[in-house]
Amino acid sequence: MADVSIRNVVKRYGKTGVIHGLDLEIPHNEFLVMVGPSGCGKSTMLRMIAGLEDITAGEIWIGGRLVNNVEPKNRNIAMVFQNYALYPHMSVRRNIGFGLRAARLPKAEVEARVLEAATTLGLEDLLDRKPAELSGGQRQRVSMGRAIVREPSVFLFDEPLSNLDAKLRNQMRTEIKKLHRQVETTIIYVTHDQVEAMTLADRIVVLRDGHIQQVGTPLELFHEPANLFVAGFIGSPAMNFIDGQLESMSTAPAVRIDPTILLPITKPIGADAHDGMSVVVGIRPEDLELATNGEIGPSTYRLRAPISVVEPMGSETIVFLELASIEVIGKARGRNLPALGMAEFDIRLEHLHFFDAATGLSLQGSEGRI
Ligand SMILES: Nc1ncnc2c1ncn2[C@@H]1O[C@H](COP(=O)(O)OP(=O)(O)O)[C@@H](O)[C@H]1O
Ligand SMILES: [Mg+2]
Repeated sequence: MADVSIRNVVKRYGKTGVIHGLDLEIPHNEFLVMVGPSGCGKSTMLRMIAGLEDITAGEIWIGGRLVNNVEPKNRNIAMVFQNYALYPHMSVRRNIGFGLRAARLPKAEVEARVLEAATTLGLEDLLDRKPAELSGGQRQRVSMGRAIVREPSVFLFDEPLSNLDAKLRNQMRTEIKKLHRQVETTIIYVTHDQVEAMTLADRIVVLRDGHIQQVGTPLELFHEPANLFVAGFIGSPAMNFIDGQLESMSTAPAVRIDPTILLPITKPIGADAHDGMSVVVGIRPEDLELATNGEIGPSTYRLRAPISVVEPMGSETIVFLELASIEVIGKARGRNLPALGMAEFDIRLEHLHFFDAATGLSLQGSEGRI
């Protein structure tokens, strides 16, 4: 078991900064996911924790030990990569046991631990096959087996599911989550896929250009994004952003997004929010819903808007509509497809997000903000 402490870690290649003073405390047994667009520094950060990459400045602690100068093999970590990195000429059994044999463990112990790991991963019937005789998902499982068998105190995963098709990715995601419950180790998992981050993580770190944007549980990031970047990155389909100006802040706070649309603000927003201030209103598609004919509740704003495209998903329908002169995405519940053309929509006012247009920062305070 180990906690990981990353203290003011900097990585530069020559003059190019990749990680700019990153601080993060990861408690023992946490499933931490680092998510961000390609090139934001995720692999670099993971490789520095593994010791495969030097750090330019700062400290990395694993299990209470400063590891800046500790060799990768002595850090008690195991890493799983996107491309599996299996030995093609070795059987599954030998691939999984490779690290243990290299460490000269007794043959019987190697055999027992390989069997245990293989059983955990459902590979016990495939032990004599070569990697070429396995599916992508099975290969990734072997690659995880090779990591588990070493009983590391920290698992590092670098986009392990990126090479799998969508269905298998979902299945493996569930398996990795179960695996974490079984093995009880700290996991640091890197991905560019926000769905993977949301579904797997105890806590998510959103990274952009080597800077942390926000740290929080999946639902904190979803419901209380710290800035426009996190708001747009987490959630699918993505949050709609509409420019607006604040009005009547001292009497009946509201935001004007169109000459005909004044949305009441139903929850407190930042102390420096003032009349005339330019803001960006964030509306998640699920909070902009095709109206059913019932009563309009007090925290609902009903408006008419033209539907231009409908995309059935089965249990719900994605609807493209024009709002405040831009195309936005809403949702319709139920089994029937809505018709194109004018329709009524309900905006759920208590779920609106407000950002300072100048800085991109949320106007609603919360924990975990930078
Ligand atoms: N060995 C290297 N030399 C120079 N630049 C590098 C090197 N490795 C990575 N980089 C740069 O560092 C940035 C972060 O890369 P990386 O950590 O691989 O991103 P991610 O895994 O988030 O996609 C990229 O801009 C990449 O070009
Ligand atoms: Mg990467």
